[in-house]
This record gives sequence, C-alpha cells and structure tokens, in this order.
Amino acid sequence: MKYTTLVNKENRIKDNYYKYCKLIDTKNELNEEIKIEEETYNNFLLLKNYLKELNIYIDIDDSYRSIDRQSELYNYYLKNNGQDYCDKYVAIKGYSEHHTGLAIDIMLKVNDEYLREDMDQFQEIKTFEEIHKHLYKYGFILRYPKDKESTTGYNYEPWHIRYVGYLPAKIIYENNLTLEEYLTSYGTVLYINKPKGVTSFDVVNRISKLFGIKRVGHTGTLDPLATGVLIVTVGTACKVVELLTSHDKEYIATVDLGYSTDTLDIEGKVLEKKEVPKNLNIEEVLKSFKKTYLQEVPIYSAVKVNGKKLYEYARGNIEVELPKKSVTIKEIELIEKNNNSFKFRCLVTKGCYIRSLIKDIGTSLNTLATMTDLIRTKQGNITIDETDDIKSNYTLHSIIDSLNYDKIVVDNLLEKKIKNGMPLENTFNVKDKVIFINKSNKLLGIYEKDGNNLKVWKNFV
Ligand code: DAL
Ligand code: ZN
Repeated sequence: MKYTTLVNKENRIKDNYYKYCKLIDTKNELNEEIKIEEETYNNFLLLKNYLKELNIYIDIDDSYRSIDRQSELYNYYLKNNGQDYCDKYVAIKGYSEHHTGLAIDIMLKVNDEYLREDMDQFQEIKTFEEIHKHLYKYGFILRYPKDKESTTGYNYEPWHIRYVGYLPAKIIYENNLTLEEYLTSYGTVLYINKPKGVTSFDVVNRISKLFGIKRVGHTGTLDPLATGVLIVTVGTACKVVELLTSHDKEYIATVDLGYSTDTLDIEGKVLEKKEVPKNLNIEEVLKSFKKTYLQEVPIYSAVKVNGKKLYEYARGNIEVELPKKSVTIKEIELIEKNNNSFKFRCLVTKGCYIRSLIKDIGTSLNTLATMTDLIRTKQGNITIDETDDIKSNYTLHSIIDSLNYDKIVVDNLLEKKIKNGMPLENTFNVKDKVIFINKSNKLLGIYEKDGNNLKVWKNFV
C-alpha cells in the first residue's frame, strides 16, 4: 500500500488502487456509516485521543467516497453553490482524494454539537489551526493549505486531512510543502551504514517505501558482504548522484590468503588453492600498490559489455573479455596480520573494486587472495561516524550540505536568471562547479565553468 498516492485534478484514482488498499467499515459518533482505509483509521483514532487531551474534540465527517457518491456531491454543489465554488472546493468524480480512503473531512464538536457546514467550521479556525500543528504526529497532513491553491488546485480546506505516513507527514509539515511539492521537488541525502547481508538495492527499496517516493538512488554499490557508508539520494537529490559517486572512497578490507573464489570474495565458490609462501612482506607489497594502474573489473559485477551485465556472462558460463579501468590507490596501509590473513586500509578513486585489488595483491604475494570482509569507512568527506543505522531515524541532509562545492547566496536579479537557466559571467572565479542558493537557503541550481562563463549543470527550480 502506497500512502503517498497522488489523486488531484491531474491524477485520476488508478484502476488497480483497491487491489492494494484495505477499506474497512465503521461508524462515527453520530452513528453514520464510514468507509476508510485501515491504517488511516487506526491513526485517526490515535490523533483523536491525543487531541482530547488538549480539549479538542473531533470525529470523521466523511472519508471514502465512491465514484457515484462524488458525482452526486458534485451535482448537488453545482446546483446549490455554482461552478466557481465547485472549481475551488469539489473534485470531479474519479479525481477526488476521497476515493482513496486516505482522506478525512474532520468535524469539530463545539458545545456538544458537531459542526458540519463550511461557514460554522471557519468560525472555529483557531481550533483547526491548533489541530494542524499535531497532524504529522500520526502521519496526517493538511491537504489543502492556505496560500497553496496554485499547487493543490483547491482553496483552503481546514477540515480535509490526508494520511501519508509518519515520515512524509513530518517532512511536509516541517518544510511547509504540499503533497504535490513533496513528490516533485523535495530532495534529501541520507548517509546510511549498510548492514551485512543486504544489497544496496534492498536499502534503496526500503527507503523508497518509507518516504513514499519512487525516485531513490544510491551512490557507489556496496556488495551484500560489505558494510559501511552508503549514500542514498531521495527525490531531487538523485540529480547529484554522479557528484557524490565521483569522490574518493576509504575502505578497511580483510583478506584470506591461499585460495581464490569465482566472486573474489568469501561468498563465492572456491576455484583454486595455492600454498602461502613463508615470511611474506605484506607491508612492502601493499606499498607497491600505491599507484595508478589498469584494474580488471570482476566478472561478478553489473558492468556491461555489449549491453549485457558481466555477472550474466558468468551465470551463463559465457566467455567474455573483462574490461580494464584505470584506478588510483592513493593510500594503503596494513592494519593487522595473522596466519594467512590480514587487514588493510586504503583510499581509492572512483570505480576501484577492492575485490580486484585484493586479487592483484595476492598475485604480487605469489599466492591467491580472497576478500572476507569490507567496510567502507569514508566517501568524499562523509565518514562512517556520520552514518545512520538502517533501522534508526535518519538525519535528513540537505543536498547543499552533502556537496563539496562553494555555495553562493544570490540576490533577486541573479535568482531570476538562474531560474531561467541563463548563462552567467564567471565573476566568482569558479574552477569547476558552484552551488547557487537564495537568501532563504533554497537550492536554485548548480552551475559549471564554461570558458569565461558559467553554464547551468542542474536546475532545481
Ligand atoms: N473537497 C475535495 C477537494 C474533494 O472534493 O475531493
Ligand atoms: Zn474532503
């Protein structure tokens, strides 16, 4: 069930929506029948109880509406209030959020009486405004806020709330967004400590579900075996994936000597064994790898050759020439040495496979070497100490803060030019890229050097 489903003037309720949505039947305190999505109802009850403590009494006036019911309502209002009112307050059948069962029109109880008319409700606007401050705590948002008519398409409806789930609701509330804005223009960067045994893709999926946002990416795959820094981009932050990926990465790797596997790590099938020479000088050999060299890409990787991923060749037992890529090992040092195993730290450039590096180190040691553990301790400036556990509350890093470029605050005139994607004179002496923000710290665009000028690299407005 996707709680951030968008139904508005442009987006009709999807035909298969009810395949995933569980509607339940209940009654409000006036003994009227109500149909509503299950999780929405449970959270509404919690919200209702919470508000009771604040001496605010609410109940459900209306929630799920069938297409026919919306049509009836529309025609009723058209007859009684006219077209202009309908355009501002009533959806056409098929385009009402009430079809989702995730929307609730709440009614206030004042002096033992439930208020149901718009006019009466607006009399109690202060109470509604108090309610709005607490909605996110139970995963609700105010769906049609004041001054957001141009993005929602509807006038202010203080009574119409919408369940989206806790995290989206909190972000939407704290950033003063609408659901439309959250789904199209919101972006954040997460620094995750990937646990062992899950793929980078699993992490991305989990985060995508939690945020209710489809567009989620990661920068630099970590194999299931590996742990550590995995930078995840959510929403519009996906536009800067390549900037985050291109950074140097630091790893701590553990190695077994004397055997090789098909995947180059301990999770693979053992292919070959070879005696480990006595009195190995691992320090010396590691030092000799502080260089730029052509590294063979491992066969168990997603790198494509002739449109096909390398691991597909491996699985199909199809011969393929492995591509080579230039990588630089900037730092490398031994941390620990045991019988036939050791641990080392290295700092490498983009695209370096530590499994391959270990294989090459094995060759230089005149034996075979296989990776048994890998921790990514750093990517660019982001260290493992700054990462969040996959199950904890995430720190939401702004796109601006996660990037390592100069930030320039611009005036209104320049802001306009940036919004239009116009080239600018490089009066800022930018060498590579620069981030432009406005006075409210809003990211406007990333520009890059283009001769004596600056041209837009990515726009965010
Ligand atoms: N009042 C809201 C916009 C609806 O009719 O769905
Ligand atoms: Zn409503």
